[in-house]
Amino acid sequence: MNIHENSRYREVHARSLADPEGFWGEAAREIDWIKPADKVFDASLGLYGRWFAGAQVNTCYNALDRHVERGRGDQLALIHDSPLTGTVTKLTYAQLLQEVTTLAAVMQDFGVVKGDRVILYMPMVPEAMVAMLACARIGAVHSVVFGGFASKELATRIDDAKPKLILSASCGIEPGRIVKYKPLLDDAIALSSAPPQACIILARPQQACDLTPGRDHDWASLREAALAAGKTADCVAVEATDPLYILYTSGTTGKPKGVVRDNGGHLVALKWTMENLYGVKPGEVWWCASDIGWVVGHSYIIYGPLIHGATSIMYEGKPVGTPDAGAFWRVIADYGAVALFTAPTAFRAIRKEDPDGTFFGKYDLSKLRTLFLAGERADPPTVEWAEQMLHVPVIDHWWQTETGWCIAGNPVGLGLLPVKHGSPTVPMPGYDIKVVDEGSHPVPVGTMGSIVIKLPLPPGNLPTLWQQDERCRESYFIDYPGYYKTSDAGYMDEDGYVFVMGRTDDIINVAGHRLSTGGMEEILASHPDVAECAVLGINDSIKGEVPCGFLVLKAGVTRDAATIEKEVVKLVRDKLGPVAAFKLAITVGRLPKTRSGKILRGTIKKIADGEEWAMPATIEDPKALDEISDALKSHG
Ligand code: COA
Ligand code: AMP
Repeated sequence: MNIHENSRYREVHARSLADPEGFWGEAAREIDWIKPADKVFDASLGLYGRWFAGAQVNTCYNALDRHVERGRGDQLALIHDSPLTGTVTKLTYAQLLQEVTTLAAVMQDFGVVKGDRVILYMPMVPEAMVAMLACARIGAVHSVVFGGFASKELATRIDDAKPKLILSASCGIEPGRIVKYKPLLDDAIALSSAPPQACIILARPQQACDLTPGRDHDWASLREAALAAGKTADCVAVEATDPLYILYTSGTTGKPKGVVRDNGGHLVALKWTMENLYGVKPGEVWWCASDIGWVVGHSYIIYGPLIHGATSIMYEGKPVGTPDAGAFWRVIADYGAVALFTAPTAFRAIRKEDPDGTFFGKYDLSKLRTLFLAGERADPPTVEWAEQMLHVPVIDHWWQTETGWCIAGNPVGLGLLPVKHGSPTVPMPGYDIKVVDEGSHPVPVGTMGSIVIKLPLPPGNLPTLWQQDERCRESYFIDYPGYYKTSDAGYMDEDGYVFVMGRTDDIINVAGHRLSTGGMEEILASHPDVAECAVLGINDSIKGEVPCGFLVLKAGVTRDAATIEKEVVKLVRDKLGPVAAFKLAITVGRLPKTRSGKILRGTIKKIADGEEWAMPATIEDPKALDEISDALKSHG
């Protein structure tokens, strides 16, 4: 390896693997513990061992109280910028702490105690940050549900998490449309078999809503009453291994996986990343332009920057159209952000609107030091364009909801490694990445295979799925004994750089959002006229991939195919939500299959993407592929 001369990366990574307890034990000194761990890592616990077992801690204390106690009370903790409402809200650490202790006290009045679940179905408003921290403060386990999911998805999560309380708002705001949350919430609760005892609803000025008597309570009134009564809630000590949150993510069926995050490992890992990976110092302004509904939003809008004592920007808007392709540069300039973290799709959207980069020159971007990209593969043309426009390092890094922080990245704080376009660079501390074949044998350098991570996973990674240890074991730990299965395929080069090329399961990545095609197929198959279907991700110049559904209608169906196609598009939007971006359904006479009945998804995808393809030797009926080509042509 010849890549590390000017970076401390090699020694740091090597030490993390040779002496994980020493490495993470040292990193843990940055956290304020109520009681230290009995053991930094206890291999006898959980599915692959547990970090910081026996320790007691409070995540909210580490994110807020300790900074106020040590003189950061007047520093901004949050800058909320919403071009969609034309508002900017700033909260210092002291002000945020007051909001959090007040809401935490309100939640305690509803009987919420340590270990209770609280679902947050919230738009990108400051109150969402307050709510997450208030849960952490009293040891309640939050589960944030992304606003772009429909009622049925919310209902599934309610059934699984069984929340005592749901916190929501009257609406979210998308460009040109108000998303009324209350009807979605009401429908979800009606569908659910585990309705909450109560809901606290934030009435936004853009949309009024009726409160369901006996169940719903007005957020602002509760807050005012609690403030007037001087109610506050102290931090509750939790075990480091207790859950901080559950975040549902797409699995390979319609039933999402409830990824559990613990308190202690999460604190230690995120704190380590802020300085060593992202190169950000306490007191600096950091911007993660994601959504709190995704893991990136949890880790780097809320927890990471606050645990570190930085100022976090929360943005309710889009990269384009709110109002223009200069939106991101305006925010960076207005608040002096030193780093931006977003998804490549945002840059593709900006590039489409502003290919010559005219908006970049209109703003003072002198404070910006680094752009971080994640959520999907950063395609080299997008990275190159961003480098040319911003004149700062553009760092791709590879993540999963399960891991909570990045698996491979380029550690700015340890000394930047050379950037190789198309690679998220090298394994981060604690991650021992291998590329293997189906028999778990390592493949040669440069050869594609399944990417796996040698156990134990570092702190911050999922200990289990919510009340589904067995599903967790089966999903991640059985196929490659001794390893965590990432379900990503790729290769490593001679310098140890990782190249992540795509999923090995049915997950697709649409505008940086993780979706299951299997889940969409379940919805399509529920249409009364559909006999068989296949959904696959096809290339899209902005979103990376978009889903495309192929339908075979039941024998005897005489209704117009175009009408049925519209109906299934609506069905996916209604059941899964607009975030699926499912807009293309195509009726075909039959699906191309192998003689053993497997749908030839790879070949269909190549045809749809306009790539070269070869007739598979095992195909049952070659004409079926011609029919796919013809159907795609007729749908433009
Ligand atoms: N609530 C309700 N609806 C939402 C929503 C939310 N929170 N977020 C998205 N939607 C809707 C959109 O309005 C859109 O609806 P439409 O079909 O009526 O147009 C649909 O879901 C699809 O959204 P999206 O795929 O995001 O497309 P878009 O055209 O609105 O925006 C981008 C495209 C590229 C600008 C946008 O996807 C983006 O900024 N992506 C960054 C992704 C990101 O941050 N990922 C996190 C990982 S780092
Ligand atoms: P999520 O759980 O939503 O974060 O999605 C995780 C999946 O997104 C990974 O398994 C990858 O398939 C993909 N992904 C995320 N970041 C990257 C990246 N930097 N490069 C390639 N794929 C990525």
